[in-house]
Amino acid sequence: MHRMASQAATGEETAGPTIADVPNAAEIFNWSVVSYAISAAWEAGVLEHLQEVGRLEIEAFSAANGLDAQIVHAMVKALAMGDVVTLDEEAGVAAPGRTFDEANATKALFHWLHRASGNLIGQLGRVAKGDREGTERDARAIGIASREANAAYFDPVFRRLLADIDFDVVADLGSGAGQRLIDMVLARPGTRGIGIELQPRSNENARAMITAAGCGDRVDILERDVTALEYEDSFADVDLVTCFLLGHDLWPRENAIRTMRSFRETFPRARHLILCDTVRTEGPYSVRGSIFASAFDVVHAGMGQFIPTTSDWLDMLPETGWRCLERHDFEVPSATILFHLVPDDEA
Ligand SMILES: C[S@@+](CC[C@H](N)C(=O)[O-])C[C@H]1O[C@@H](n2cnc3c(N)ncnc32)[C@H](O)[C@@H]1O
Repeated sequence: MHRMASQAATGEETAGPTIADVPNAAEIFNWSVVSYAISAAWEAGVLEHLQEVGRLEIEAFSAANGLDAQIVHAMVKALAMGDVVTLDEEAGVAAPGRTFDEANATKALFHWLHRASGNLIGQLGRVAKGDREGTERDARAIGIASREANAAYFDPVFRRLLADIDFDVVADLGSGAGQRLIDMVLARPGTRGIGIELQPRSNENARAMITAAGCGDRVDILERDVTALEYEDSFADVDLVTCFLLGHDLWPRENAIRTMRSFRETFPRARHLILCDTVRTEGPYSVRGSIFASAFDVVHAGMGQFIPTTSDWLDMLPETGWRCLERHDFEVPSATILFHLVPDDEA
């Protein structure tokens, strides 16, 4: 209704369908509650239980897992509103609904939006007025959402790419929980890994995971700032560099060019740089066709962080000393690209 009025007032056509073309305000409101419930249901183990067992008895499940049954019931009832589950209210039993598989497959993105970024987007109006105090995002939830997103979306593509790449030593930039390094060295006997990560807490966690995975003698984690990285002896044999979900932190443009150029000197033997990140969306979002792009833009706008578009990346790459050998565009999460880069002076 409001859109029609504003169109009439301005005489302008909007470029694509917006959410207002489909539901009314009540539906918009209620879908947002479903969205919160998907994130919460994953954290509470509801989605996993439904996937494994095929049904969920609310009272018994809550008691067995030390959960508040009233909250679980409310959560499940909200999920039923979006057909994520079907709910027999009288019996207190839920089962997967028509949208369960899709919600389950994209749960990392809901978690990223609500659990990791909710403290910020819930206060976006205040942030827009210039007051950011107490709006920090949840770093642990970002780690959990990223790990799940890697496993569900990026790793299958990354593994296919890696099958054609020989490497002895890999450096993972912004290594977070260290899972990529663990997976890579375990899959390739004789290889070694170096994680480069700014956050001491992430590094402690990564070192513990690497030791637990039995590859403590093959992976080192270094506390370094990727944007101020300098050559050190342990980088001499690095022949593969990976960089997942960190690329936007290298921007604005001149900083990103400087940092990516520096990798040629910091890792003099590197023959491959695989960079995967979400980009800013140009033009309207595809309401039905894209998931994540809108959230990524809103959250980073809230953080005051510049996010490059695909065109921004393609425009600056020729100045970095790297050229793009191949590119993959992910459907989920939308607006996410992977570049396989090689030194630009190599045939
Ligand atoms: C979204 S997380 C992704 C973690 C991991 N690459 C993954 O795919 O799961 C981004 C990581 O980059 C790290 N990071 C951000 N800026 C950095 C910098 N300048 N130097 C080193 N690490 C950085 C963050 O601390 C965080 O662990």
